[in-house]
Amino acid sequence: MAEGELASAVKVRPATAADVQRIVDISLRMWDGEDYIPNVVDEWMNSEEGAFVVAEVGGVVAGFARLAFHGRDHGWLEGLRVDPDYRRRGIGRAIGRHLINLAVDAGVSTLRFSTAVDNRESIAMNEAMGFVRIGGGRWMECEDPPWSELAAKAEAAAETGTGTGAVVEAGGEAAPVGGIAAVRLSGSDVAEDSGFVRDVLASNVVAAVGGMLPAGFVFYPAEPAFVTKLARDGYAYTAGTGQSRAVLLASIWSESSSEKPGVVISALEGERGSCLAILSAAFRDFAKDGIGAGVATVPCESIAYHLLREMGFSSWMEEEVPAHLPTVLLYDYPVEAGLRR
Ligand SMILES: CC(C)(COP(=O)(O)OP(=O)(O)OC[C@H]1O[C@@H](n2cnc3c(N)ncnc32)[C@H](O)[C@@H]1OP(=O)(O)O)[C@@H](O)C(=O)NCCC(=O)NCCS
Repeated sequence: MAEGELASAVKVRPATAADVQRIVDISLRMWDGEDYIPNVVDEWMNSEEGAFVVAEVGGVVAGFARLAFHGRDHGWLEGLRVDPDYRRRGIGRAIGRHLINLAVDAGVSTLRFSTAVDNRESIAMNEAMGFVRIGGGRWMECEDPPWSELAAKAEAAAETGTGTGAVVEAGGEAAPVGGIAAVRLSGSDVAEDSGFVRDVLASNVVAAVGGMLPAGFVFYPAEPAFVTKLARDGYAYTAGTGQSRAVLLASIWSESSSEKPGVVISALEGERGSCLAILSAAFRDFAKDGIGAGVATVPCESIAYHLLREMGFSSWMEEEVPAHLPTVLLYDYPVEAGLRR
């Protein structure tokens, strides 16, 4: 069949409750059954915002994806999956086109998605559709971390100044260690006009990941409202003052299951001793809250990268991809050109 015929054989329509089982079945065929879609499918179905669509070929659902809106202005594409038995028939492209057009018609100012550096198919398809790489970060994860042990490890490192003590952000100074109290923030301390929100927005992480705020594979607009929401729903800490100040922003990982919630670290930045004091406090809270996994997308070779490594976090591409290169890639569609597909 010619491309036109293939594309016309694909029907993209809103997902309905009757599609859920098929969506889950398709997702279970991805990545050895490790896909997060079963954890979010009900939420995506019930969400009144954005568009959750499936692609049908000959009456069979063969793929799906979601367009989310982060605020009114920012489109975010996620969860594109095509049944392995239906690949290379233009289904992924048909879904992509449909959602790009929806987003352009909705008048978004940005339309973005992220993917893994080794996802050849996704990168090839999306670059061919006009997406441009604008940044990225380094994936870090730790499954079932022994949080209390890690808290003690962070404390010990802060007390002794051992480990990657020389690692500080550009312009930073060697770290004073020990005796720094971390403070968990809430309420007005994380309001949109708070010092905490300003620090997070001014952090290197935002600059390093295309001017956005990472939360694992999801990136939010770097705007005060999003930092405040993540902080209020999750975990916000600060420690130290002046040059030695550090901040940590973490929240419940959207991809994790409600039975075993994980935590995603969005920002961890500042002087080493203060970061360690914060990590120790945060890890103790994660233990108390029964958090099952820790993940983060952090700037390459940043203090967050080195500290999380020191604490036992790693990445599936740690060996293959040199530390100065990202493993999570952020892509942007040129919506300002009003380009429908
Ligand atoms: C990525 C994915 C959705 C593509 O779906 P698909 O229906 O097979 O893609 P299409 O047939 O529409 O392909 C469109 C273009 O993408 C590129 N592409 C797709 N698969 C490719 C592959 N295996 N190798 C190289 N290029 C590929 C090609 O440019 C292709 O155009 P062409 O066939 O005219 O050469 C599918 O491979 C998939 O479900 N992967 C697993 C889930 C995933 O990674 N999702 C994306 C997460 S960000």
